[in-house]
Amino acid sequence: MAIWNLGSINADMVYAVPHLPGPGETLAATGLERFLGGKGANMSVAAARAGAHVAHIGAVGADGGWAVERLTEYGVDTRFVARLDHATGHAIIAVDDAGENQIILFPGANRQIGEAQLGEALGGASDGDILLIQNETSAQRAAAHLARERGLRVCYAAAPFDAQAVQAVLPYLDLLILNQVEAAQLQEATGSPPEKLGVRDVIVTLGAQGAAHFDSEAGTRRDYPAHRVEAVDTTGAGDTFTGYVLAALDLGLPMPQAIGQAMRAAALMVMRHGTADVIPDLKEVLEARFA
Ligand code: RIB
Ligand code: NA
Repeated sequence: MAIWNLGSINADMVYAVPHLPGPGETLAATGLERFLGGKGANMSVAAARAGAHVAHIGAVGADGGWAVERLTEYGVDTRFVARLDHATGHAIIAVDDAGENQIILFPGANRQIGEAQLGEALGGASDGDILLIQNETSAQRAAAHLARERGLRVCYAAAPFDAQAVQAVLPYLDLLILNQVEAAQLQEATGSPPEKLGVRDVIVTLGAQGAAHFDSEAGTRRDYPAHRVEAVDTTGAGDTFTGYVLAALDLGLPMPQAIGQAMRAAALMVMRHGTADVIPDLKEVLEARFA
């Protein structure tokens, strides 16, 4: 089986700051590093490092060759990443001493992905494969529609939250993954809690409180506690969780084990600076010892 990820690719410019800047404030950073990022790329790398076959559907500009090379180096199939006449997406990320972050996103080429590109990529997909989408690209709804037609399972991470985007793809979803804030925003937009929207499986991540899985067919909720870790930088932890859950499901593991591995991977991500480049592999995830 394979995961087809219609996802963003960004250059993450990560500035270390003593505190997050306020309006009108000029603040000197104490460090600057560039990582491969974008929620999509982070999820692809996480799923690949967890052992899944991942094909990334995305777009970069002429300045994004290095990002595609890195994705390839990390084991992601990049044949369906287009080079467009638009700037590569980037994110300006401030991380303070407490590990809190603030992100300004410039979508660039990520928002120029068209239906022709999707058709070409998903033409190679098979029944039972998984399509993964999130909100940093264009064409999510078209992708979900096409994937359903071809017998793929459709998984959606509702980040960054966009009420219209989520409602457009809801009818196609088999699995919805969102954090607490996004869950509240979705409930506000629809009037119903996320687990009551007709999606078979819903996972709500609860930060330090762990995660909850709702199986709407069985009508059950199962809670998973988080590992206690010292947070250095939470950027990319949610994406890593999603990539790990999908990889495990794609490899045929049951949901509890998929979420268990994903919680461990996310815990490791919270303890380190950076995004796609520092996502742990499955061996590291399984061997990690937590308090
Ligand atoms: O979720 C973290 C990601 O959000 C970063 O890698 C950044 O590129 C933004 O897309
Ligand atoms: Na991190």
